[in-house]
Amino acid sequence: MQPKQKKFFIQTFGCQMNVYDGWRIAAMLTHHGLEQTENISDADIIILNTCAVRAKATDKVFSALGRIRRAKKPSALFGIVGCVAREAGASAFRRIPDLNFVLGPQSYHKLPQILENPDARLLNIDLGGLEKFDELPQMEKSPRVAYIPIQEGCNHVCTYCIVPYTRGRELSRPFADCIRDTIHAAKTGAIEICFLGQNVNGYKYTDENGTVFRLSDLIRETAKIPEIMRIRFTSSYPTEMTDDLIDMFATEPKLLPFLNMPIQSGSQSVLTRMNRPYSLELYTDIIRKLRIARPDIQISSDFIVGFPGETDDDFDQTMKIAQQIKYINSYSFKYSPRPHTAAALMPDQIPENIKAERLAKLDALLNEIQREFNIGCIGKTLQCLLEGPDKTGRHLVYRTPFMQQCIVAFRENAPELTDLEITDANKASLRGKFLTDN
Ligand code: 5AD
Ligand code: SF4
Repeated sequence: MQPKQKKFFIQTFGCQMNVYDGWRIAAMLTHHGLEQTENISDADIIILNTCAVRAKATDKVFSALGRIRRAKKPSALFGIVGCVAREAGASAFRRIPDLNFVLGPQSYHKLPQILENPDARLLNIDLGGLEKFDELPQMEKSPRVAYIPIQEGCNHVCTYCIVPYTRGRELSRPFADCIRDTIHAAKTGAIEICFLGQNVNGYKYTDENGTVFRLSDLIRETAKIPEIMRIRFTSSYPTEMTDDLIDMFATEPKLLPFLNMPIQSGSQSVLTRMNRPYSLELYTDIIRKLRIARPDIQISSDFIVGFPGETDDDFDQTMKIAQQIKYINSYSFKYSPRPHTAAALMPDQIPENIKAERLAKLDALLNEIQREFNIGCIGKTLQCLLEGPDKTGRHLVYRTPFMQQCIVAFRENAPELTDLEITDANKASLRGKFLTDN
C-alpha cells in the first residue's frame, strides 16, 4: 500500500514580503511531496509564518499557537517561521514546550529538515543572507501579480522598528537573478511585477566587473518583457528616491503612477527622534519632482501616531502633511514599543488613550481623502488588472493603476487587463463597467 500523502497547513501574517515567503514555503513543501490543506486537524505539519512589527502581531501568533495545539493531530509537527521566530528565538520553546521548530526569516528553507528528523527541535534564527533564494525551488506557475524580492533587510534603523533586527542588514540580490526570476514569472503567467524590499529603492548591486545596477535598471529591463504590462515596487525610503528612479516615472509607461513612500510623521522633531533624518522640505521636493515626471501619480504612506514625546502640535503637523500630500491607500498605526529597538527605552511614552484618539482622527482624515479621490475617478476610464471573482461570484474584482479595487458585473472569459469606465465610488472601492458588451 502507498503511504498516505502528508499534508501541511500554513497561515501567513504581516507584510507583502511575508506573503511572498509563505508562497515559497508552500511551493517548497509541495516540491517535497506534501499536499496543502486548509484544515488544521488534517495537517501533519503546521506552519505559522509570522510578523513582529507591532506587539499585537506577536501576541496574535502566540494565541494562534495555543489554538493550534488543541486542534491539531497529536502526531502533527508545528512551529513558527518569520519575524516572531527571530524575535522570540529559543524563548518560544519555553513559552510553548511542545513546539517543534522556530525558523527565522532567512532560514525557513531549512524547514524540510524537521520532516527528516521529527523528534528533534529545530531552531535557526541566523541571518544567513540571501542563501534561501538559491535553495528554494522555482514556482511552477506565477500569479498574475508576481512579487519579486530584490532586497532584504534594512540599514536605516528607525528607532521604533524591529525589522533591522529580525531581517538583518540590507542585502541586494544579484541583478541577473532578479531578471531571471522576472522573466520566469512573465513566462508562467505574470502580467504585473511588483519588486519587493524593506528598502526597495535602495537596491544596489555591483557585479564582478564593477557595474552598478539600481532599481531603475531593473525597471528598464523589465519593461522590455512583452508579457509584463504593469510594474511597481514597495516599500520606498524617501531619501533613496534618486533622480534616475524619478525619471522612470516619466519615461516608462509600464511603471504604474502609484508610489508607496512612507513619511511616518509630519513633525520634524519626531522624525529626528525616529532616526529618519530627512527634512520635510526634501520630502515634499521629491513629491514635487515625481508629479512633474508623472502628473497623475498618487502617493501612499504609513503613519505612526503616539511616538514617544509626540505632542499635540507634532500630531497636528502629521494631519497637515496628510492633507497637503493627499495620500491614498495609506495605513496608520499606534506606536508599539518593540524589543531590540531604541524608542522602547525613550522617555515620555504616550498613554494608550491619547494614541487611540490620534489614530481615530488621522484615520478619519485618510478615509475622507481616499473617498474624495475615489469619487474623482467617476467618469474616467482606467486600465485595470483582473484579480478574480468576489465572494458572491456575481462580480469580478479588478485593480486600477492606483491599487483601488474596481468591481464589475461578472462576465465569462473576462479580459485580464482591460479598460473600465468608472461609474460609482465610495471610500472602499470603485464600481465600473466594460467598454464593450462582450
Ligand atoms: N509601532 C507601530 N508601527 C510600526 N511600524 C513599524 N514599527 C512600528 C512600531 N514599533 C509601522 C511603520 C511601518 C509599517 C510597516 O509598520 O509605519 O512603515
Ligand atoms: Fe523599519 Fe525604517 Fe527600515 Fe522601514 S526604513 S524597515 S521602518 S527601519
